[in-house]
Amino acid sequence: MKKKVLGIYGSPRKGGNSDQLLDKALEGARSEGAETHSIYARNLKMSGCLECGGCNETGKCVVKDDMQAVYPLMEDANVIILASPIFFYGITAQAKALIDRSQAMWSKRMLEKTREERKRYDSGKGYLICVGASRGKNLFEGAELTAKYFFDALDMTYEGGLFFRRLEKGSDVRKQPEILEEALEFGKKAVEGD
Ligand SMILES: Cc1cc2nc3c(=O)[nH]c(=O)nc-3n(C[C@H](O)[C@H](O)[C@H](O)COP(=O)(O)O)c2cc1C
Repeated sequence: MKKKVLGIYGSPRKGGNSDQLLDKALEGARSEGAETHSIYARNLKMSGCLECGGCNETGKCVVKDDMQAVYPLMEDANVIILASPIFFYGITAQAKALIDRSQAMWSKRMLEKTREERKRYDSGKGYLICVGASRGKNLFEGAELTAKYFFDALDMTYEGGLFFRRLEKGSDVRKQPEILEEALEFGKKAVEGD
């Protein structure tokens, strides 16, 4: 059966560095026979999580906005690749709003799995692509922690990421074709195996 890969584009900048890298990763996944879907966080009209408790009983979010179309895509995906630039040592607000709203999927996991079963992650694999302008040693630490617990909520394992420093202008990544090639290979590897 075809693997389903969901790419979540976290940058507010259309066609920028992380967009181009995720495009390449999805191209790599498709070249290995996967089916890919894309979500652009910047296009979603949605709020962050309200911590209203609405999802505690049912595992479903009660807030009716564009996020409702994203839940089924996340549930269906065997692989999710999240891409975001670093904004103030974390992911973008747009990507974070989507992640915070996945609290409903965390509630669902709590409702459907016992404590013992929650030691297993049965819903697939998650990957991260991150870019930043500086050379900061700890530049990606915050984003990686967020991604790890995002995938945990989705009952997926966090399998690692691609991280690139010193990319600032939206076109910078095009000056380094080897990086785009790396993203292509990353996408291919993401869909390897059973
Ligand atoms: C609001 C804002 C905050 C940023 N914060 C950081 C930061 O903390 N560290 C860093 O290295 N770059 C930071 N940057 C630079 C972006 O990460 C960089 O330009 C990146 O290449 C943008 O990716 P994109 O082309 O995919 O949008 C920031 C940019 C903006 C607009």
